Amino acid sequence: MLIYEFIDDSVKNNMILNKFPTADEFYKTYWGRKPFVVRGAVDQEVFSDLIDGDTLAGLALEEDIKSRIVITESDAAQWACHHGPFAAEHFSSLGDRNWSLLVQNVEQYHTDTAKLLRSFDFSPRWLMDDIMVSYSTPGGSVGSHTDSYHVFLVQGMGCRQWTIGRTPVQNEDCIDGLDLKVLKAGVEGNSVEVSIGDVIYIPPHFAHEGVTQEEAMTFSVGFLGPKISEMLVEYGDYLEQQELHNKRYLGQGLDACSAAFEIDPDAQNLLRSDLVAALQSDDFSRWLAVYFSTPTHDDIESMGARDKPFLSAELLACLQEGQVLYRPEHIKISMTTSSDGGINLAVYGAVVETDVAHNKLIHWLNQNSTISMKDFDLLGDQDKLMRLLTYLYNQNVLFF
Ligand code: SIN
Ligand code: CO
Repeated sequence: MLIYEFIDDSVKNNMILNKFPTADEFYKTYWGRKPFVVRGAVDQEVFSDLIDGDTLAGLALEEDIKSRIVITESDAAQWACHHGPFAAEHFSSLGDRNWSLLVQNVEQYHTDTAKLLRSFDFSPRWLMDDIMVSYSTPGGSVGSHTDSYHVFLVQGMGCRQWTIGRTPVQNEDCIDGLDLKVLKAGVEGNSVEVSIGDVIYIPPHFAHEGVTQEEAMTFSVGFLGPKISEMLVEYGDYLEQQELHNKRYLGQGLDACSAAFEIDPDAQNLLRSDLVAALQSDDFSRWLAVYFSTPTHDDIESMGARDKPFLSAELLACLQEGQVLYRPEHIKISMTTSSDGGINLAVYGAVVETDVAHNKLIHWLNQNSTISMKDFDLLGDQDKLMRLLTYLYNQNVLFF
């Protein structure tokens, strides 16, 4: 009994794992269901490439970048949330306690921060929304809250105390009058203290609250799915632009049951089946790849083409010299399979034309971030391979 009392309650609830679960275990046991903590999951040396506090503050001065500062008080009803852009002088007025700065989409503005994503290849990278980064001083917090997304909270420098709910919150009741969603009831759950390299996974709607003990940086890798309404609007726009599945309903087959104002069941079914046909097509698969590779924030530009494109032979010569191509982690890519077995590869919202012969290379790009001459034997026809690699290189998807 005495020993039991000494065990931290998070261990009691099997929340602390000694390494990341395998991909299989992750989706079966944790994804959307159960929080976990892995100590030292990310190597300390990874953090030296990621954004630091000063550069983060620099991003918060920019007009197009979403940032906020949250100031805590002993009474949560008095907390303040200010939205950026901020003037540089703003930071000197904040003092050294009880505030945090949070900046969204950091991996697109400080692309080295995306290197963190290499630790999360078991996650659905296509669903990743952004890396939000917070810098916080002792006492800094955004309060107890839930998010609609899945999140890995990766602790950088410093030390924070988190409380994590054991089950999802059913009815969110938030403190009134704050420009911030803070749960009135706080968080009832397990407490855990984290330091550099520790990772917490929080499923959607699980309450959590982090309070900073030592000046800290937290990297939140978030995965947010779209709402049906958002997808219907976007897919509708795509069909209109591409002139696909966009025939007009002509009232075919109507009879006396549809006189006056009633849309009879046959007419409803015909309208519904036109929509279903549009959703069941390969065009929908193709659009999904486009949609999930589009940055979720309007201000982020697509990759654009290289100023000095390479010929296939030039690229091959570099590879033959022993150079290695790599895919930077911030580039938004998604892929879907069509009914003919071909893969729709989309990068930053644009489909890269591919045929079935490229499937091996595309699978390779899905699982690896580098490619060199020694990998060629595994990847099929060299001419076709070089054509696609050259295209991807010239579009700034691959780099030496
Ligand atoms: C934070 O870094 O303080 C907030 C992260 C979160 O709870 O999502
Ligand atoms: Co959160």
